[in-house]
Amino acid sequence: MKYPSWPPYRLVEESLEATAERKLARLERLYHVGQDQVWDGRKVLADLIAKHGPPRLDPARKEPALKLLSILLWGELAAWAISADLAERIEDVEAKLAATSQAHDEARHFYVLRDYLRALGEPVPRLGGLARRLLVSILETESLVHKLVGMQLLVESNALALFRGLVEAELEPVLGELLPYYEKDEARHVGLGVLYLPRLLADLSPFGAAKVAAFQLRCVGLLMSGGMTMREEFRALGMVQRELAGRTMRLQDEIVRDMLAGGPNENRRDAVRGLINPAKGFGPRILDFLHPKGGVENAPAWHRAILGAWTRSARFADRALA
Ligand SMILES: [Fe+2]
Ligand SMILES: [Fe+2]
Repeated sequence: MKYPSWPPYRLVEESLEATAERKLARLERLYHVGQDQVWDGRKVLADLIAKHGPPRLDPARKEPALKLLSILLWGELAAWAISADLAERIEDVEAKLAATSQAHDEARHFYVLRDYLRALGEPVPRLGGLARRLLVSILETESLVHKLVGMQLLVESNALALFRGLVEAELEPVLGELLPYYEKDEARHVGLGVLYLPRLLADLSPFGAAKVAAFQLRCVGLLMSGGMTMREEFRALGMVQRELAGRTMRLQDEIVRDMLAGGPNENRRDAVRGLINPAKGFGPRILDFLHPKGGVENAPAWHRAILGAWTRSARFADRALA
């Protein structure tokens, strides 16, 4: 045979290096796009207050709204510290740039939300123990991979779902127009995880991968239990928890898919080693269990009993860990 290796597939396939370079270029782009889309938090908030008047919460929804805003406020502060830590410790310059840009965004997210809460003039309730434990564990972990999984994959996707839910709940007009600025930035932050995590995950040993999975499960457990303590608050705000959780899961599914869409020559499974995609496997079943389709009130007695017990112990833990 004269042409044993015909057709020359390499002509259309990207080499491993080319794929890696393309990803690094996209990582660096996150920094430049971040710079192009930077918004002046002081001006945006002042303009919105001038347009709608000082923000005031409707008394019936005030308490639950403040509880949720407190989680978002401290979440932003944690995201700031975590991304600054990533910026310092990541070695690849392109990913370092992306993390630096994120730290700049998170600083703005924190001070604008703080100023918004000051304009509301209401005292901010203290953070519940479960949310605190979650954020502290991501702040404290020594592992870059755990930090990126916790922040980029779990916290950012939950934050995105909450921001969207709050906008749709039409809580208050200043907040309603402010949060889309946050959403745009957070969507970019997810990109750091999508583009950079596969490179770190692919190098994990089986033991390292198991540790990532365990860390992820612990975070998801804290997020779910934290959500259980907020059932009544979400209901009072008109936010449907089943939809929030479903949206978070879809976002995480998209992230995992994007991570897998590396390049034709990449070992696809390596790119997500140790990661659990909640949209696959048990995720939808857990969703149905936590937030039954027909509502908790219409679930069978045994189901309500387990959910009730879980909610009570989650509330207990939330207070005990605070
Ligand atoms: Fe943020
Ligand atoms: Fe973020």
